[in-house]
Amino acid sequence: MSSDKKPFTRLPTDVVPVNYTLELKPDLQKFTFAGKVCITLKVNTPTKTVCLNSADIEISNVTCGDQVGTVSYQKEDERVSFDFPQEISSPEATLNIVFTGILNDQMKGFYRSKYTRPDEPDVERYTAVTQFEPADLSLSQDVKETKEDGDSKTVVFNRTPIMSTYLLAFIVGEYDYIEDKDSNGVVVRVYTPLGKKEQGRFALNIATKTLPFYRKYFNVPYPLPKIDLIAIPDFAAGAMENWGLVTYRERLLLASEDSPISSKQIVAIVVGHELAHQWFGNLVTMEWWTDLWLNEGFASWIEYLCVDYCHPEFDIWTQFLAQDYAQALSLDALSNSHPIEVIVGPPSEVEEIFDTISYSKGASVIRMLHNWIGDDDFRKGMNAYLTKYEYKNTKTVDLWTCLAAASGKPVMEVMKTWTQQMGYPVLTVDAKQEGNNRVLSISQKKFCADGNIKGLTKILTRPRGHDKKLTLIDKEEP
Ligand code: BES
Ligand code: ZN
Repeated sequence: MSSDKKPFTRLPTDVVPVNYTLELKPDLQKFTFAGKVCITLKVNTPTKTVCLNSADIEISNVTCGDQVGTVSYQKEDERVSFDFPQEISSPEATLNIVFTGILNDQMKGFYRSKYTRPDEPDVERYTAVTQFEPADLSLSQDVKETKEDGDSKTVVFNRTPIMSTYLLAFIVGEYDYIEDKDSNGVVVRVYTPLGKKEQGRFALNIATKTLPFYRKYFNVPYPLPKIDLIAIPDFAAGAMENWGLVTYRERLLLASEDSPISSKQIVAIVVGHELAHQWFGNLVTMEWWTDLWLNEGFASWIEYLCVDYCHPEFDIWTQFLAQDYAQALSLDALSNSHPIEVIVGPPSEVEEIFDTISYSKGASVIRMLHNWIGDDDFRKGMNAYLTKYEYKNTKTVDLWTCLAAASGKPVMEVMKTWTQQMGYPVLTVDAKQEGNNRVLSISQKKFCADGNIKGLTKILTRPRGHDKKLTLIDKEEP
């Protein structure tokens, strides 16, 4: 992370958004879109200036009540500011913005993805799709009504629960789908390219089993009436947990019951991962990207629990060692590793922390923690965390506090050594006899791939016949 840039600051909190009513009109011929957004604001401190995150959006008009604002873009920071002649001082205000944008081919923001139909394989067509994590907007909603007017069709969606903007998604295009309901009546659909809907069957079965599994595990219901899983031809990540509309690379969603077991396992893992985020990540979101690992480490651990439940014959936990644990050990032994909880600056720097440390070391320390406090207390703590912080934001410490309360164990003290410093220890135990005492020297050193190790030696002295009395001496090595 470069140090020559000006220090990064978060958006001002003079005004904060309460609700967005968004209208979008994509043009799949010109690859543009036109839109209007009405943002309800809570005014904390009267101000003449409102600053928003915005990238590659052209704003033609902005008003707040009867005031017209002037627009200035801070392109480098992916921000835009509006200046108004007078202070916005009422406790609540509404901001109306009219804008246009481009359906880009960069696989982020609101973008276009190419596809063909089976009946006309030579004709290129386009679908419009979104990818907003980490910072490219910051709607996946259920439909309220649709209106048709000549060539154009308007779809009106219901208001979402309060949510993080990076979890929004909207897609306009041609798809086939298959549908089912889970045991609690949640409508589950898998959208596939035209003519391939049967290849959505395996994922549909996993999803309808997984939703009730998480509901029971967390003892918290899935809060939306529907969930869609959709395969996107051009997709940058592997999959994305947009609330109620999860997007996937085609090969991570499509598999039939008779596909090779390796394809089925990967589809099951990815579905299990993204659906876990619907609770852990979406219902409760980290306060800032420093705590991204909470999302990704947790989902990368619980995906195994979920697949083991859906398909015990996969014996999926055996793969954890190679896929996550070993990867984490190998990367974390390098001198340029970083702590799990890592300071992150501007949105442009966020993407680089979606790495093995956040995912696999994160998953490994959660696995260790779960093993230590036990499944019952872990679930109790998770339920407390998700209920206390639903529709809110958290930091790592909030999870530790809930798990400590549920288990009566010093979770914070133990876990912070794993999440706030990089690397991991290698322990050596030496035993020798000193007169009547049997002395165990346990040395703990940071394991480094280059062999350059430094560490702390803990010496435990246990006098004969006094089994329970251990004296602990910490000695810093030269
Ligand atoms: N939230 C991520 C997707 C993501 C990754 C968005 C990087 C923006 C930047 C999603 O939950 C995820 O982790 N996807 C994985 C697949 C998963 C099964 C490990 C991915 O995309 O690799
Ligand atoms: Zn994830």
